[in-house]
Amino acid sequence: MVYRKATFKDVEAIHKVVNDYALQGVMLSRARNTIYETLREYILAEQDGEVVGLGALHLVWDELAEIRSLAVVPSTVKTGIGREIVERLTQEALDLGVKTVFALTYQPGFFAKLGFHEVEKETLSPKVWKECINCPKFPHCDEIAVVKEIGTKA
Ligand SMILES: CC(C)(COP(=O)(O)OP(=O)(O)OC[C@H]1O[C@@H](n2cnc3c(N)ncnc32)[C@H](O)[C@@H]1OP(=O)(O)O)[C@@H](O)C(=O)NCCC(=O)NCCS
Repeated sequence: MVYRKATFKDVEAIHKVVNDYALQGVMLSRARNTIYETLREYILAEQDGEVVGLGALHLVWDELAEIRSLAVVPSTVKTGIGREIVERLTQEALDLGVKTVFALTYQPGFFAKLGFHEVEKETLSPKVWKECINCPKFPHCDEIAVVKEIGTKA
């Protein structure tokens, strides 16, 4: 398995993996435009030249970042790829000085295994909601907020 940053050549693969899951209602969809604009946020897992997993680190506010668009293709779930991607994104966050990473997810059990804990969504920075306004589900969000403290607050 190769883990690497995304490039323009990966946009179609990212679009397919995310939106196949979005069609099943387990992830939020992503337009190509958004993927292009946020391409630097992604880490990919590649096997035999195919993208089999991905996730992104989105900076939100002071020392606060979101892990988003996390997905592993069905043929390779439960083989440790999701964990590895989250750990790599968390290391990127640490290197940037992020103190808190969070996710909005339908899979809190997975994040619990990685040391995240559930919180009330309202406890997250109001800045988080700026992007929620564009979500088709807004304001009826049914995702669960999970948080992990990765550094000591100044
Ligand atoms: C959720 C997802 C990213 C997990 O990735 P994965 O590669 O299958 O997970 P891993 O193999 O790294 O699992 C790490 C640990 O979490 C556990 N785990 C995986 N998925 C889980 C889930 N849905 N609920 C509870 N635990 C889970 C694994 O059993 C493993 O536990 P272990 O350390 O005791 O062996 C993947 O199932 C997926 O892409 N699902 C569809 C899209 C989605 O829901 N994305 C999340 C959006 S935030």
